[in-house]
Amino acid sequence: MAAEGFQTARGTRDVLWPESWQMEAMRDLALSWAARFGYTLIETPIVEKSGVFLRLGETTDIVQHERYRFVDAGGEDLTLRPEGTAAVARAFIQHGFAEAPQPVRLCYFGPMFRRERPEAGRYRQHTQFGAELYGSDSPLADAEVILLALGLVDMAGLKQPEARINSIGCQVCRPAYRQALIEFFSQRQDQLCADCQVRLRQNPLRLLDCKVDVALREDAPDVQAFWCDDCRNHITAVIDLIREAGYRIERDRHLVRGLDYYTRTVFEVGHPTLGRQVALFGGGRYDGLTAGLNGPWVPAVGFGMGIERLLSALPAPLPMPVAARVYVAHLPHFEREGYRLARDLRAQGFAADSDLLDRSLKAQLKEAGRRATIAVIVGGREWADGLVTVRDLGRAEQETVERDQLANYLRQKIQEDQA
Ligand code: HAM
Repeated sequence: MAAEGFQTARGTRDVLWPESWQMEAMRDLALSWAARFGYTLIETPIVEKSGVFLRLGETTDIVQHERYRFVDAGGEDLTLRPEGTAAVARAFIQHGFAEAPQPVRLCYFGPMFRRERPEAGRYRQHTQFGAELYGSDSPLADAEVILLALGLVDMAGLKQPEARINSIGCQVCRPAYRQALIEFFSQRQDQLCADCQVRLRQNPLRLLDCKVDVALREDAPDVQAFWCDDCRNHITAVIDLIREAGYRIERDRHLVRGLDYYTRTVFEVGHPTLGRQVALFGGGRYDGLTAGLNGPWVPAVGFGMGIERLLSALPAPLPMPVAARVYVAHLPHFEREGYRLARDLRAQGFAADSDLLDRSLKAQLKEAGRRATIAVIVGGREWADGLVTVRDLGRAEQETVERDQLANYLRQKIQEDQA
């Protein structure tokens, strides 16, 4: 029981073993998979000047209601990052990546903060793995980031993800679509929820993904009828490339996503185990976000993936490290010898620990059974003769081994056990 008043803040949690290991394993898997595509890791600060995230859109939930924004003791207006894309765009400009050979491929793995209503799979601190590809407006770039994300989900062992994609048009064709939506929903304004009344004026596309007004959107105009030739060719090519790689993906005409920076491609991938409202990853194209942050205009596309969600959906955990922990137990008065032997074994590459509580041999072996696969027992006459006892805790077998041969013996034994 935690002491009253000292528990994790609402919507946050401690990550305990073995989940903490699962997170690390997923980080390794994600970064090494991304490296195969040429993505290099970028770690931006967890706090940014608040202005960086204002570009996500005044009507965006994570800007409007969900920001952890504060003024520090020096009067600086800062925000805990709610997502990675704007922070990476800021870094892209700051380090002059626009002058580097294009495309520039960056990926990140770390915590994001949103003051959302906590529920299953929704935290106020969550972990995202994301990838951002700069400098290409080709549909090949969109397909690359989607296939990177789908490939990771697949490698982690989660099969048959449900991928949805849409194009929300571009500066050329979106204005007419926007107007058509305003007209459509204005005629039904009395039926709209309070949020959508506001969205109708500020960002009518968001009416399409309202969780309340789902019936109303069925008859709303389809963006497909408004696409310019470039947008139509682009989305068609992306879908073809994903399918060609063996994945299922469907167009969802109601998919618009919650961030204002998107243009053309938007996508979201879920899994039946998570429920329809909960996405594993989402992303899209955001050409020119860099220009909004006072940098050069650069085309870009990327995704962000919720790692807690991915882990919770896996049918089986990622492989755990092989437990070859050696526990050094000691006979009475040989505590120091046990301690030193454990220290030497660690120096020789073994995971080893020893008793620090001067317990009875019986109590030590009980502890060893919980923590180790091998116990080394030191002390008594044996120690004086240069010998130790090695007990295989799984098989309940034991052997006497010469102390100076112990490392070789253990190495061989662990190898045999792992084979
Ligand atoms: P997003 O859809 O807001 O996109 O978040 C990406 C993913 O992060 C979601 O699909 C979900 O898996 C996870 N996620 C978001 N909020 C939470 C939460 N409260 N609790 C647990 N998991 C969560 C972005 O953030 C964009 N930056 C993605 C992107 C990258 N677009 C272009 N490049």
